Amino acid sequence: MGAPDYVRHEALAKWVEAIAALCKPERVAWCDGSEEENAEICRGLVESGAFIRLDPDKRPNSFLARSDPRDVARVEDRTFICCRRKVEAGPTNNWMEPKEMKAILNGLFDGCMRGRVMYVVPFCMGPLGSPFSHVGIEVTDSAYVVANMRIMTRMGRPVIEMLGADGEFVPCVHSVGAPLAEGHADVAWPCNPENRYIAHFPEERAIWSFGSGYGGNALLGKKCFALRIASVIAREQGWLAEHMLILGVESPEGEKTYVAAAFPSACGKTNFAMLIPPKAVEGWKVTTVGDDIAWIKPDPEGQVRAINPEAGYFGVAPGTSEKSNPNAMATIGANSIFTNVALAPDGDVWWEGMTDSPPEGLIDWRGEAWSPGAGKTAAHPNARFTAPASQCPCIDPEWQNPEGVPIKAFVFGGRRSAVYPLVYQSFNWIYGVYLAATLGSETTAASTSAVGQVRRDPFAMLPFCGYHMAAYFSNWLRFGRMINNPPRIFGVNWFRKDKEGKYLWPGFGENIRVLKWIVERANNHAKGVESPLGWMPRYEDLCWKGLEGFTREKFGELMAVDRDQWVGELLAHEELFMKLYDRLPKELIFIRELTLSSLWRSPEHWEFSRLPAGEPDD
Ligand code: OXD
Ligand code: MN
Repeated sequence: MGAPDYVRHEALAKWVEAIAALCKPERVAWCDGSEEENAEICRGLVESGAFIRLDPDKRPNSFLARSDPRDVARVEDRTFICCRRKVEAGPTNNWMEPKEMKAILNGLFDGCMRGRVMYVVPFCMGPLGSPFSHVGIEVTDSAYVVANMRIMTRMGRPVIEMLGADGEFVPCVHSVGAPLAEGHADVAWPCNPENRYIAHFPEERAIWSFGSGYGGNALLGKKCFALRIASVIAREQGWLAEHMLILGVESPEGEKTYVAAAFPSACGKTNFAMLIPPKAVEGWKVTTVGDDIAWIKPDPEGQVRAINPEAGYFGVAPGTSEKSNPNAMATIGANSIFTNVALAPDGDVWWEGMTDSPPEGLIDWRGEAWSPGAGKTAAHPNARFTAPASQCPCIDPEWQNPEGVPIKAFVFGGRRSAVYPLVYQSFNWIYGVYLAATLGSETTAASTSAVGQVRRDPFAMLPFCGYHMAAYFSNWLRFGRMINNPPRIFGVNWFRKDKEGKYLWPGFGENIRVLKWIVERANNHAKGVESPLGWMPRYEDLCWKGLEGFTREKFGELMAVDRDQWVGELLAHEELFMKLYDRLPKELIFIRELTLSSLWRSPEHWEFSRLPAGEPDD
C-alpha cells in the first residue's frame, strides 16, 4: 500500500498513510493521471452503475452520472470556515472552532472508507511550473471525483514530480461518508445527506469534506481551494483570488485586451466568457481564458496579470444551446462528464433549453421515463457538464501562459430588472470597489429563496470568501495602491426590464457592443459622459450596426438613473455595511455619501439623452 517510487516527498507519503489509517479503506491508489488509468476508472464507474456510457459516435468518450436526489448542489449552510477566532471568518461565513470541528471530523472519518478504494489525487491549480500555481493533494473515496478532477485540474504524476522532496501542498480530504459494510452492495451515488461538512482550515491551509459527492462540495480544487483557501493566501501575499471569468477581446486592428468579470450564479457567466459577436460588429473577436476563477497578481512593473487556475469547465447545462453558446456546445462534444441531465433514446444527452422541443422517450435525471407534460424538468436545474478547456473552439492562445495575461478591465454584473443601467464605468478604483462590494442579484427559480428578491453578493464572492468580507474589501483597496495603471472597473446589467416586464437588452452576442465600449474606455479610446454613478456611453458611443432598430429612446430607458430607486438601493447597501461594520473600510461609507450627493445634484430621473448637446467629457 506504499507510495509509488516516484514519490520522493516523505511528509506527503506520511500524511497519506495517516489518512489511510484513519479512514481504513480497502486499498490506496495513487493516481498518475494517465489515459490508461482514466479508462480504467471510467470502466469501473460504468460497471458499478455510476456512469452510463453515452453513444460513442454522438458523444465519444463521454458519460452520464445521476446523483442521489439529495446531493445536487453546493451546500452553503454546511460550509464552514474554521479559523481560530470567529471574527476572522466574519458575519457572512459559518464558523466553527478548529478543535471542535476536528473532533467531529475525526469521528466521522474514522473508518468512513471501509470497503472502498482511497484515491490519492495530486493536482495543480494553474499551469505546471507557473509562479501563480499552487498544488493540492486530494484524497477521496469517489472514483467520480477522480474522473472529474482529471478534467478540471492538471492532475497526476507530473504534479508529484514537480513537488519534489519538499514542495508545499494543500491537503484536501474528501469522503462521500458511506462505508460499505461486509457483504453489502454499493449504490450508484453513495453520499451521506445527514452528516455533511465542507470544512476549511485557513490557518493550516487544509480542507476536509464529508458526505457529498457533488461539484463544489467534492471537487476540492475549485471553490474550496481556488477561492476559499486561496483568498486567504492571496490576502497574506498581496494578490487576489476571484470568482471571475477571464476573456480576451480582439479589435479589428488586432489590439488584444483582457478583461476579468464577476457575476453571481445564474447570470450567464459561461455564455459571456465564450461570447460570439454578431456578424454586423465586424472584426471583433472574443477568446476565453477562463469561465469561473481568476488568480490575479501584479508583475514586477505593477501591471496586473491573471491566470485561470482550472483546466476544465464545470458548467450549468440547462440553457446551454447552439443558440445561446455554440462554443460551449462544441467544447462538450467529447471527453465530457454530464451529471443530472436527461438521457435520450439515441444514447445522447438533453436538457431544458438545449433544443426548442425535447426528443421523445427521454429518461430524466432521476432515471425515470419523462414526457413534456410531466410537470417537472427532465434535467435538474443545476445539472452540469465537466469538459476540458482545451476543447473550447474559442480558447485563448495565451490561456496556459505561466505568466498570466495582462488585465485592463474588471467587470461586475448582477441580474437586476430595475435600478441599474446597462453599463457604467466607476470614477476610480475606490468607486469600483464600492460598485463590486454592493453587487446584488435577483434570485431565480433555480435557487431556494423567493424569486425576484435581491441577494447581496459582494464581488460574487459571498459563498467563496475564506475570511471576513469587509477585510476582503480592504484587500482590494490595498491592491489598488500596489499597482500601476489600475484596470478600469465597470458595472453591467444585461437584465433590466421595461414597464411590461420585457427585457430591454437582447444580451448574448449583442453584449459585444458593451464589451467594445469597455475595452475602448480601458484603452482610453472611447468617449463617455459623467452620470451620477460614473462614466456612461451615450447612444452614439456604442456601435449599432445590425441593431439599428434599437432606438435612442429605448437606450435612454436602459441607461436611466432614477433618484428614488437609487435612494432605496443605497439604503440596501447600508444594510450590508451595517452587517460588516466592525471591519468596513471607511472609504465605502464616503463613496455612498458622494453617490447620494451626486444623485441629489442631478435631475430626479437622470438620462443622458436629456443633456444639452455638446462635446462629452472624457
Ligand atoms: C459555480 C457557482 O458552481 O458559482 O460555479 O455556483
Ligand atoms: Mn462559479
